[in-house]
Amino acid sequence: MSEFSTSVTASVLQPNPWVADTVEIRKITPEIEHVLTYHLAFTNPDVGAGYRFKPGQFNMLYLPGAGESAISMSGDSDSHEVVDHTIRIAGNVTRGLTDLRPGDTLGLRGPFGSSWPMDQCIGRDVVLVTGGIGLPPLRPVIYQLLREREKYGQLHLLYGARSPETLLFQHQYDEWTQQGLVVHLTVDRSAPGWDRNVGVVTILLERLQSFDPRNTVLMCCGPEVMMRFVARTAFERGMSPTRIWVSTERNMNCAIGLCGHCQLGPAFICKDGPVFRYDNISPYLIVDGL
Ligand SMILES: Cc1cc2nc3c(=O)[nH]c(=O)nc-3n(C[C@H](O)[C@H](O)[C@H](O)COP(=O)(O)OP(=O)(O)OC[C@H]3O[C@@H](n4cnc5c(N)ncnc54)[C@H](O)[C@@H]3O)c2cc1C
Ligand code: FES
Repeated sequence: MSEFSTSVTASVLQPNPWVADTVEIRKITPEIEHVLTYHLAFTNPDVGAGYRFKPGQFNMLYLPGAGESAISMSGDSDSHEVVDHTIRIAGNVTRGLTDLRPGDTLGLRGPFGSSWPMDQCIGRDVVLVTGGIGLPPLRPVIYQLLREREKYGQLHLLYGARSPETLLFQHQYDEWTQQGLVVHLTVDRSAPGWDRNVGVVTILLERLQSFDPRNTVLMCCGPEVMMRFVARTAFERGMSPTRIWVSTERNMNCAIGLCGHCQLGPAFICKDGPVFRYDNISPYLIVDGL
């Protein structure tokens, strides 16, 4: 067993992980500029019936003629008919997807990778810290926490974006709040009508009231430099690195630990990650002077 088996879930592979299943686009939801959610359903109902993922895992989406991209699932892991992926247009595959319409098909391999440590959250407070497009890989965590609300202590989402109009999933914040998630927001650039915080997401962690570092699990998803600052702030507030979990990204190719494309130090992000306990992966993250 490698040190990375401290990730709660090992890779969950389909019987033949090289073979893409066909999925049909049921619906496309434009979220913010350059970000869309694709609601995908397996064309073979037997495959769909057997498909399960855990919060934090990812699929490889295959667009013929363009290639494959790793994309996290952004919907509820308890909802089996349709699998949601929230995608920022970045390059070949993600731009090519924008030519597709409901009823069109693409290939899907997965689910792959480790998942967020949901079992460690039971009986504890949970703080989710994220920025921009980092929220979609954490949204399945939110669905699960709120579905099982009575199992957990305080639940906080600390979310930052460049400006108010680039905050994802705004239509869900009221519902999440009513269900027991405290939503804290910040933006880099304010705008008329914005009465929440302005500044980087770490200020939300610095200001978090009634925070018990010994009884909190923190999950963080975003650029590596952001995750480093968040971890540093969490340490300053008394948290142990063993209670901090991060999700990492590298270019993927095989997604099953064979090609080495996604190597980060001794770890393969596709199978040992993408979710890692902070103390296991922090020596290998981009340092950037921190
Ligand atoms: C585990 C994991 C989960 C992920 N989850 C998500 C998710 O939920 N949502 C999401 O949106 N993304 C997610 N990503 C990121 C996504 O996989 C990448 O953005 C992916 O590369 C997009 O594929 P693409 O072919 O569209 O872009 P690529 O063609 O791979 O381009 C990626 C980047 O390279 C740049 N680039 C491309 N071509 C050139 C060029 N010729 N010259 C210079 N720069 C270039 C692009 O501007 C872009 O920034 C995830 C990645 C990982 C590893
Ligand atoms: S993508 Fe091939 S080893 Fe991870």
